[in-house]
Amino acid sequence: MAYALPFGKSGGLRNFVIAAGALAVAVIFAGAPAIAEEKSLYERIGGYKGIAATVDDLVDRIYVNQTLNQNPTLKAIHDLNERAAFKLILGAWVMENTGGPKVYFGRTMGDAHAPLNITNREFDVFLHECKETFYKFNVGQKEIDELMAALEGLRKEVVTAN
Ligand code: HEM
Repeated sequence: MAYALPFGKSGGLRNFVIAAGALAVAVIFAGAPAIAEEKSLYERIGGYKGIAATVDDLVDRIYVNQTLNQNPTLKAIHDLNERAAFKLILGAWVMENTGGPKVYFGRTMGDAHAPLNITNREFDVFLHECKETFYKFNVGQKEIDELMAALEGLRKEVVTAN
C-alpha cells in the first residue's frame, strides 16, 4: 500500500476525497445557473404591474410637491393636469430602461428636460420622492440601489439651471 489509511478501512480516505470533490463540483454547477440567470431589474421590481403602481404614486407626489411647484415651468405643466399621460410615458421609459419590453415612445432625457430649468436642488427633491415611493412599495434594497444609481446618472442630462 503506497499511502497510510487513517480511517482503518481500505480506501476510506480516498472515497472521502472523491466524495468531497464530487460535492464541490455539484455545488459549483448548481450555483452557476443562478449567477448566469439573474433576473432583470424589470422582473425584480414586479414587471409592468410593479412599475405602474410605483409610477402612479411617484407622479402624484411630484405634482403636489411644493418645492418643485416653485419652479414656474414645472408648475405650469402640473396645472395642465395631464398626469395620466405622464404616468404612461414615464412607465414606458422605466420598463424599457430596466430591461423590460422596448416600449418607450418619448424624447431623450436631454430634449425632454432642457426647457424645464431644473436645478440640482429640484433634482435632489425628485430623487427623494422616488425613494419615498420605493420604500412605500417595499422595493428591495438592492433594487433601490440600482434604481437610484441609474437615476443619479441622468443628472447631467436633466439639470440645466443653477
Ligand atoms: C432623474 C430621472 C428622470 C427621468 C427618468 C425622467 C423621465 C421623464 C420622461 C420619460 C419624460 C417624458 C418625455 C417626453 O415627454 O417625451 C419626462 C418629462 C418630464 N419630466 Fe422628467 N424625468 C426625470 C427627472 C425629472 C425631474 C428631476 C423633474 C422635475 C423636477 C422632471 C420633470 C418632468 C416634466 C415636468 C416633464 C414633462 C415635460 C413636458 O411635458 O414637456 N423630470 N421625464
